[in-house]
Amino acid sequence: MKRWINSIVLIAFATATIIGIALAQPEKITINNKYPNKVQTPVVLSHKVHAAAAACNECHHTLKKGEQPATVQKCAECHKAADSGEKGLKKAYHSNCQDCHKKLAAEGKKTGPTVKCSGCHPSKK
Ligand code: HEC
Ligand code: HEC
Ligand code: HEC
Ligand code: HEC
Repeated sequence: MKRWINSIVLIAFATATIIGIALAQPEKITINNKYPNKVQTPVVLSHKVHAAAAACNECHHTLKKGEQPATVQKCAECHKAADSGEKGLKKAYHSNCQDCHKKLAAEGKKTGPTVKCSGCHPSKK
């Protein structure tokens, strides 16, 4: 009886965890930070497609391998929008996004936009 209850508790926990992750991970995300002098349009990406194609820590690089928390730190918490250098926010996104796309393109694999600005920043109407 005790063991039976234990497995129900375990199943409930596992389900809650799976639902928790599913809910925590948005279908689409819009990256729209504030910059001192913003010129480009916000960037929309399918988080679902990306989370299926790559490990979480390929992008959320401060996570440990295999870690899938329900909440993550914003890139902007550490990479500052006012910093236009190597460690700045724009560079962090461009390196992360474009380096992976370029690497996959070079391998002849299915990937996202590499250099074309409008691939990620849709032109203003
Ligand atoms: C693979 C996707 C991708 C491509 C291609 C890309 N960018 Fe970006 N870019 C981003 C992301 C993501 C951000 C972060 C946006 C934010 O933080 O709001 C960004 C931010 C920026 C910013 C800083 C925010 C602003 O609006 O001032 C500039 C400037 C910029 N990109 C210019 C360009 C230009 C110019 C090109 C083409 C030569 C380009 N990007 C191509 C993804 C891309
Ligand atoms: C291709 C890169 C990439 C991959 C892979 C990825 N994420 Fe994200 N994720 C992002 C970006 C970019 C954001 C927006 C955060 C920001 O811009 O500060 C985000 C946002 C989130 C958010 C916050 C959602 C919100 O609405 O604010 C959670 C939670 C999250 N990711 C979890 C995960 C988990 C768990 C995985 C692995 C199963 C994962 N991510 C895989 C790039 C990625
Ligand atoms: C907790 C702070 C923190 C967060 C959150 C964070 N970064 Fe970083 N990031 C750093 C530090 C510190 C470095 C430089 C040291 C290093 O190489 O790890 C760095 C380096 C990078 C680099 C340079 C290449 C590399 O991996 O060394 C890229 C690209 C990058 N971050 C992208 C991102 C993106 C995209 C996000 C959000 C999805 C993000 N970072 C979130 C702290 C952070
Ligand atoms: C680890 C590799 C990797 C990283 C990092 C990555 N991408 Fe992608 N991206 C892919 C792959 C693979 C596809 C093609 C997925 C498919 O169509 O099955 C893709 C497709 C896309 C597409 C077209 C589909 C969609 O989501 O609308 C866009 C736009 C895109 N990426 C934007 C971004 C942006 C913006 C970032 C950075 C925040 C980023 N990607 C980071 C691998 C990556």
